[in-house]
Amino acid sequence: MRQQIGILGSTGMVGQRFIQLLENHPWFEVAWLAASDRSSGRTYGEAVRWKLDTPLPARIAGLPVSPATPEGAPKIIFAALDADIARELEPKFAAAGCAVISNSSAFRMQQDVPLVIPEVNAEHLTLVENQSWRRESGGYIVTNPNCSAIGLVLALKPIVERFGIDAIFVSTMQAVSGAGYPGVPSMDILGNVVPYIKNEEEKMQEETLKLLGRLNGCLVEPLGAKMSAHCNRVAVEDGHTESVSIKLSRRATRDEMLAAWAQFTPLAGRDLPTAPAQPVEFIPAEDRPQPRLDRMRGAGMAATVGRLRPCGLLDWKFTVLSHNTIRGAAGAALLNAELLVSLGKLDPVAVPA
Ligand SMILES: NC(=O)c1ccc[n+]([C@@H]2O[C@H](COP(=O)([O-])OP(=O)(O)OC[C@H]3O[C@@H](n4cnc5c(N)ncnc54)[C@H](OP(=O)(O)O)[C@@H]3O)[C@@H](O)[C@H]2O)c1
Repeated sequence: MRQQIGILGSTGMVGQRFIQLLENHPWFEVAWLAASDRSSGRTYGEAVRWKLDTPLPARIAGLPVSPATPEGAPKIIFAALDADIARELEPKFAAAGCAVISNSSAFRMQQDVPLVIPEVNAEHLTLVENQSWRRESGGYIVTNPNCSAIGLVLALKPIVERFGIDAIFVSTMQAVSGAGYPGVPSMDILGNVVPYIKNEEEKMQEETLKLLGRLNGCLVEPLGAKMSAHCNRVAVEDGHTESVSIKLSRRATRDEMLAAWAQFTPLAGRDLPTAPAQPVEFIPAEDRPQPRLDRMRGAGMAATVGRLRPCGLLDWKFTVLSHNTIRGAAGAALLNAELLVSLGKLDPVAVPA
């Protein structure tokens, strides 16, 4: 039987992706939707401005939008709220015994909150056992990273494992859907590049080092690499592209770098429905990856890497692309939930003895 789930922030860009990705999901069924006071009390079909290229499922359109309170909500909650709202609401759901699988930055860097990409640091999920909500009600918060950190970290993980990384330089070209709806005004972005996304560079830097860090008891020791991120908004609908340079701790040849990506299949055998068979796909063509052509690789869950070449400042440079609202948001949270199921941490959320 499928487990019932709820979505907080269900009418937003990421909330809509949740609904799209959960349609016909083998393990989860959407049973409860919540959003702001603007939407609650209406049906979902009335409240949402549906922006995806697949039809809004009729069953979902008829569901009521509930107030964003835990009363009557299922015990598994996917959350797609702005950070300020998440900071206030997510703890209420965790305290009420819900497993909150969050997209927001509000708790990502909190010591006892796991920040997880299943292929990268599944072992960090044990941090939920240190959360006071877990002890008191069985509830907890698990987060996935910022949409620009996910593609980068997927590409770096197999490299750091084999060769170590001492320095990371990244410059992003981020899609407008990353700013939610209606997001960046068209007058600001059409024919333009905006070289500023509030707090994005800080998030990318600290989250990347936490994700690639080592779990030591109940602490994550961040990766000890130097890092600098430049974040830019560009006139692309979906898909974040990133130019990356890295300095390795040990020398690696081009063939060794390519083998690290090709052989990176850490979830093989777990049979998680949303996991891509090949989380990092390398394209040899000299002008790829490109957002329009490559963002849907692995059903939007793969990071696509190309243009691997020596770097005049550091050791190697390359381009990585990932879909920001699928792999960078709703798909990331869904994969985290599937991993939690496979680890027995979403069985009717029980208060540990
Ligand atoms: N877009 C991306 O690519 C992306 C990627 C990774 C992470 N994220 C993160 O995911 C979160 C959601 O992003 P988004 O792009 O989906 O934002 P969005 O399009 O602005 O959607 C925000 C959602 O939150 C709801 N909401 C607003 N105020 C609320 C309140 N007081 N109580 C309850 N619900 C409230 C909205 O409901 P109404 O419709 O009723 O206003 C809407 O459903 C953010 O933290 C964002 O940083 C986004």
